[in-house]
Amino acid sequence: MIRKSIATDYNVLSLFYREFDENGIDLFDSDPFSRIYVYEENNQIAGFISYSIVYERAEINYIYVDHNFRRKGIASDLLAYCLIDADKHGCVNVTLEVNSKNEAGIKLYEKNDFKIAATRSHYYNGVDGFLMIRELRK
Ligand SMILES: CC(C)(COP(=O)(O)OP(=O)(O)OC[C@H]1O[C@@H](n2cnc3c(N)ncnc32)[C@H](O)[C@@H]1OP(=O)(O)O)[C@@H](O)C(=O)NCCC(=O)NCCS
Repeated sequence: MIRKSIATDYNVLSLFYREFDENGIDLFDSDPFSRIYVYEENNQIAGFISYSIVYERAEINYIYVDHNFRRKGIASDLLAYCLIDADKHGCVNVTLEVNSKNEAGIKLYEKNDFKIAATRSHYYNGVDGFLMIRELRK
């Protein structure tokens, strides 16, 4: 089940987030346009997606699935939720940045029709990043 994140999810999401950044951040203290949705299975949070919708632009900030729940289609479901939401809000496309060495992430996005639009040189501590884009309307 996918549901909007609530304050009591904070500890679990912070732990997940540490895989992106060991210092962690206050995911709930980000910009007012950001939305966080969690995937719950048997009352356990299996993953989450954070994205922002700013007028006609949508951007994925993070998507994460707990190691015990990977390769079951959970990230794909969270991504699909985001794409439908962005479309409902009239967005023309959805963008994201991903570490060029993140094979799992890139495969996930390519499988969902995201294309590499640009390379951000040394974006992640010296490692290139890819700007990926998924068009929603022609
Ligand atoms: C990337 C991540 C979100 C994928 O989550 P997931 O729920 O396992 O993904 P799904 O089960 O929906 O996989 C969908 C497709 O993505 C690709 N994929 C996912 N994990 C993969 C891996 N480890 N290696 C290669 N391809 C992978 C496959 O094409 C997969 O389809 P398949 O299982 O039919 O082959 C998860 O590995 C994760 O949380 N990683 C750490 C955080 C991260 O890197 N996030 C993305 C960048 S922000």
